[in-house]
Amino acid sequence: MTDSLTVRDNRTGQEYEVPIADGAIKAADLGQIKTGDDAPGLAVYDPGFVNTASCRSSVTYIDGDKGILEYRGYPIEQLAEKSSFLEVAYLLIHGELPTREQYETWVHEITFHTFVHENVKSFMQGFRYDAHPMGMLMASVGALSTFYPDARNISDAQNRHIQIVRMIAKMPTLGAWAFRHAQGKPYVYPDNDLSYTANFLSMLFKMSESKFEADERLVRALDVLFILHADHEQNCSTNAVRSVGSSQVDPYSAVSAGIGALYGPLHGGANEAVLRMLRRVGSKENIPAFIQGVKDGNERLMGFGHRVYKNYDPRATIIKKACDDVFEVTGVNPLLEIAQELEKIALEDEYFVKRKLYPNVDFYSGLIYEAFQFPPEMFTVLFAIGRTPGWLAQWSELVQDKEQKIARPKQIYTGARTLEFVPASERWS
Ligand code: CMC
Repeated sequence: MTDSLTVRDNRTGQEYEVPIADGAIKAADLGQIKTGDDAPGLAVYDPGFVNTASCRSSVTYIDGDKGILEYRGYPIEQLAEKSSFLEVAYLLIHGELPTREQYETWVHEITFHTFVHENVKSFMQGFRYDAHPMGMLMASVGALSTFYPDARNISDAQNRHIQIVRMIAKMPTLGAWAFRHAQGKPYVYPDNDLSYTANFLSMLFKMSESKFEADERLVRALDVLFILHADHEQNCSTNAVRSVGSSQVDPYSAVSAGIGALYGPLHGGANEAVLRMLRRVGSKENIPAFIQGVKDGNERLMGFGHRVYKNYDPRATIIKKACDDVFEVTGVNPLLEIAQELEKIALEDEYFVKRKLYPNVDFYSGLIYEAFQFPPEMFTVLFAIGRTPGWLAQWSELVQDKEQKIARPKQIYTGARTLEFVPASERWS
C-alpha cells in the first residue's frame, strides 16, 4: 500500500501521484493538475470548509461520530468533573497539566490582571443604554490593543504570555461591565480575594453588600460551563481568530474578530435563540405543530445539529446534568419541561434521526443561564469568556507554526469580464 492518491484528469488523460499524509492531501499539490501551461491549476471548492484542514493542531481532539471531545488528550467528562476552569485554561495554553507551583503562579497572574484601565471603563460607559453586551465585549477587547501596543510583538514568547494572561483575566471584567451597563447599575471592580468564577459573579450581581458571596454550587456549575466551552477545535470563531491572526496582528484584534464570529445565531448565539424558541412554543401541546414547521423547512430546531457531532454532543450530556445542580439552588426553569419533551420527540422523529441531528451544547445551556438570571443577550458573553483560553491556545499555536501563511482562500469567479466603462455623465445623459 502506498500513501498516495492517483488522480487521472479526464480532460487531458494525464495521471498524477499526490502524496497522502495524516489522512489528507495538500490542496497545493492539486495545483499541478492543469489543462495547459497557462491554464489555472485545479482548485478545491469548499464553502464553509466542510472538508478542508486549515492547520495542524494539538489542542483539541473531536470524534464527531462517537461523540468524543478531548482537550490536549484529556476527555471533557473528566475535566468537567475533576478540574477547574483555570487549570483547564493552563492545560490548553501550555499543552500539559500544571505542577502545584505552576498552577499557583498561573492563578496569581490571572487574578492580578483582572483590573482594566479606567479609560476602558469610560469607553464602555459611552455605549447606548441598550447596547448588546456582545457588541460591547467585542469593541472593548479590540480596544485593549490600544492600551497594550506592545502586544503587536507577537514573535516574543514572554510578550505573548502576558497578553494571554491579560485577556483571560480581563474578559470577565469586561463581560460583567457590559451586563451592568445594560441594567444601568454601577460597574463593580474585581475582588481578587475570590476565585475566577466567584469574582465574575460578584462583578455581575454585587450591590451594596461589602462582599458578594455566591452559592458555591452555582460557582461550580458556571465553572463547569466555562470548561465545556473552553475550546472546540476549528469552529467558526476560532477560524476567525486564526484567519485574522494570520496577518500577524496583535491577539486582542484577533480575539475581537473571534467574538464577532461567536455573536452570530448559528454559532454562540444559538442558546439565546433556543430560549426564544422554547418561549414561542410555550407549552407541550404546541410541540407537534412546531416540529412539523421545522420539518417543512420553515425554521430550524435551535440547539440541535452540529457540523462535527453526528451523535449526542458530549457537552450537552454534562450540561443536562448541571441543570439539576443549578435548579436545586434556583428552582426549576419551567421551560425545561418543554425542552425535554422537544428533545424526546425530535430524537424519535425520522427527519432528525436520518440527518443525525442531536442536541448540541446550546440546547440546555440557555436554561441554566436563565436560572442565574442572565438575560439572553448575556449568554454569548458567557460562551466568549469560556472560549478565550481556547482562542488563545489556537492563536499561540498559529503564530509558532512555520507552515502557516496569511489566510487567503481562492474563489471561483462568476462575474462579468472586460466590460467597457462609460462615465456617469454619459450614462445618465
Ligand atoms: N433543525 C432542523 N434541520 C436541521 C437543523 C436544525 N437545527 N440542523 C441541520 N438541519 C438539517 C438541514 O436542513 C439539512 O437538511 P437537508 O439535508 O434536508 O437540506 C441537514 O440537516 C444538514 O444541515 P446543514 O445545514 O448542512 O448542516 P451544517 O453542518 O451546515 O450546520 C449547524 C450545522 C449547527 C449550523 C446546524 O445544525 C444548525 O443550524 N443548527 C441550529 C443552530 C445551532 O444550534 N447552533 C449551535 C451549534 S453548537 C455551538 C457552536 O458550535 O457554536
